[in-house]
Amino acid sequence: MINTSTKTKTDASENLILKDTSGFDAGSIRKDFPILNTTVHGKPLVYLDNAATTHKPLVVIEKTREYFEETNSNIHRGVHFLSQKATNEYEEAREKVRSFINAKSLKEIIFTKGATESINLVASTFGRMNINAGDEIIISYMEHHSNIVPWQMLTQEKGAVLKVVPINDHGELEMDKLPGLISEKTKLISIVHVSNSLGTINPVKEIIDLAHSKGIPVLVDGSQSIQHLKIDVRELDCDFFVFSGHKLYGPTGTGVLYGKEELLESMPPYQGGGDMIAAVSFEKTLYNELPFKFEAGTPNIAGMIGLGAAIDYVRGIGIEKIASYEKYLSDYAASHFVDIPKFRPIGSAKEKVSVFSFILAGIHPHDIGTILDFEGIAIRTGHHCTQPVMKRFNIPATARVSIAMYNTKEEIDHFVRAINKVFEVFA
Ligand code: ALA
Repeated sequence: MINTSTKTKTDASENLILKDTSGFDAGSIRKDFPILNTTVHGKPLVYLDNAATTHKPLVVIEKTREYFEETNSNIHRGVHFLSQKATNEYEEAREKVRSFINAKSLKEIIFTKGATESINLVASTFGRMNINAGDEIIISYMEHHSNIVPWQMLTQEKGAVLKVVPINDHGELEMDKLPGLISEKTKLISIVHVSNSLGTINPVKEIIDLAHSKGIPVLVDGSQSIQHLKIDVRELDCDFFVFSGHKLYGPTGTGVLYGKEELLESMPPYQGGGDMIAAVSFEKTLYNELPFKFEAGTPNIAGMIGLGAAIDYVRGIGIEKIASYEKYLSDYAASHFVDIPKFRPIGSAKEKVSVFSFILAGIHPHDIGTILDFEGIAIRTGHHCTQPVMKRFNIPATARVSIAMYNTKEEIDHFVRAINKVFEVFA
């Protein structure tokens, strides 16, 4: 978690807060990520767009390649050797996910193509079953569109009501407003753990405890927390937890829905098709047991096996060590960003991950992004799929730097120097 209130320029020798005590060797980590050797416009790549997607370590690339070269077969269907091997590897990946988030049972781990599909699954099944006219769902102002639109579609279909927890000028939830939004009609709270555009870490445990005291289930969108924080779904006691594998150094097109077993048991299937059935006749279909009831069709087998390899990789380093290094690097970045002229941070929550949204007065974020690109630096610019956040801060877009475990102090220095080019162009 980052101290964004740092106002003075400091460096590691001056200030203990910037001393890297994590014992983290980012230099050797970088060797695991071949893409980091790429040059962009003739300059070494400085990749600071990790909230959009993380790069993949060699073990993930090799595992995926090995799958296609040595295993490729459909799962849960064949008696032949390769099909059994593919099934075993796919189910081993499920166990890796279960253990990584400390779910009780493999039945609670549903594989999807991403967090977006996981949320849509819950909206289409749990939502359709439990939300009726006049019922209420609570989300927050800082949700990604994927945690707004599915609920909007559902509430419109059902004549239900979407309520929104406001955020303050620091980009923190106005938690004192939450109790007043909860009513007897509240059927679900769906909340982001870490904001992708602000970096804010929300007090999800507090929200879950409050919701449960009123018998309300909670979905946590962990798309931006899974790669930065230790996640224990049993400790959180959340009812649903979703994330995308590609933000956790795994392949794109991989996602997870964790749900408490009794809830998943009570929910109807999401999509119909192969694998989600136990028996089919024209009169009636019996559905498969969990987790397969929610996994119709041939899934992203290679991708999920790759996600398993990514989890092994992250666990091999240790999520706490990663978090500690990212905090060190974020403190370093924050202490240097304050010196950039006309730099206005968007999102200055007390509890943050290594995500920095900002605007430079008078310069459009897309121009900043384009000029930095010519320096080899990749950042994201735009509304980050959080248009209500932009509206809240009365801006069309931000530029966003998001830091991962393979970034370095030198890259932050390079970014700060390159910002001067932006000022040169717009002088
Ligand atoms: N939601 C992703 C981001 O924040 C794509 O960039």
